[in-house]
Amino acid sequence: ANSEAGQLIALHQRAAQLYHHILVNTPAGAVARAYLKRRGMTDDLVEQFQLGYAPEQRVLKAFCDQQKIDYQILRKSGLFTEDQAGELHDRFVDRVIYPIKNQRGQVIAFSGRLLSTANNDLPKYLNSPETLIFNKRRTLFNLDVARKDAKQTGKIYLFEGFMDVISAYGAGVSNGIASMGTSFTEEQVAIIQRSTPQLDICYDGDSAGQNAIDRAIKLVDQEATGNMVTRIVQLPAGIDPDEYVQKYGGEKFKKYLSQHEETVVDFYLRFFRNDRNLGQQSELINYLDQSLKVIAKVTSPVEQDMYLGRLADEFSLDKAALKSQLVQLSEQLG
Ligand code: CTP
Ligand code: MN
Ligand code: MN
Ligand code: MN
Ligand code: MN
Repeated sequence: ANSEAGQLIALHQRAAQLYHHILVNTPAGAVARAYLKRRGMTDDLVEQFQLGYAPEQRVLKAFCDQQKIDYQILRKSGLFTEDQAGELHDRFVDRVIYPIKNQRGQVIAFSGRLLSTANNDLPKYLNSPETLIFNKRRTLFNLDVARKDAKQTGKIYLFEGFMDVISAYGAGVSNGIASMGTSFTEEQVAIIQRSTPQLDICYDGDSAGQNAIDRAIKLVDQEATGNMVTRIVQLPAGIDPDEYVQKYGGEKFKKYLSQHEETVVDFYLRFFRNDRNLGQQSELINYLDQSLKVIAKVTSPVEQDMYLGRLADEFSLDKAALKSQLVQLSEQLG
């Protein structure tokens, strides 16, 4: 297509090829190749995700001039910064390049990662700005692949970062996606809902990750209109999915995912314990109150009963008393 969007996409596809070529075939890419290898990125993964490298020496502008690509297209592509004189300069410099694709698998943007974050004030990841073809709020990394996989597996995993999606893919989990550095959006929820019957949220195993899971659950709860099921996979403390794969291997990762899938209520029953001393009666009362409010939203009476049974057992409480408090809360919540 010769439309502006078509030209922008064509430019991105060629830029992706150029960055990929530099990474894979040239001396300028050697340091980035070593970096990716150290991080466990196999040749297959580098090919599958078309990873690249934008070298220190600015190459994209020269390439585009040689190809006689229209100045206005270059300006609107987001791939360059513009100085006061209107000169364009490569935006991505000395960064590993992750192409970001739309749902048809066309490259629409890039994210570039620093090779080292030590003594560096620059952001670890630099993303393309919004353009005619790149709307961050509507884009999910690897969705084009994950939605096909979801036709078989019936689910999609939501990870925090690009490297999590890529390492999971290497482990045979090809239904992973990640939001675009920004927080998870309502637009993304709507898109995911059209792509899969179940979403498993699998964020980093740190407190930031747990808080992000809480926010993601609430967003899905608000925005999802159909009957998409939400599940959580909480990783061990201090580790992200990529680190898990590199440390324990792909087989263990897959096993972990399948064995640690939990319901939203399960997640909150743990989450509400954080920073609480449940040995103290007032804290326990607050904990039960918070937990019962979440359980009150469960529509299945059998499932509700299971959670009440567990709370009763754990804290030596009367299940009937918990049940009547739940009924009270349900009436209050409407
Ligand atoms: N992110 C970003 N800018 C940053 C840091 C993070 O855009 N300065 C986004 C990226 O999309 C990143 C995600 O937030 O993938 C998750 O952040 P983090 O967990 O810190 O990064 P990792 O994905 O673990 O990246 P890496 O393993 O490469 O360090
Ligand atoms: Mn290649
Ligand atoms: Mn993180
Ligand atoms: Mn991480
Ligand atoms: Mn990481």
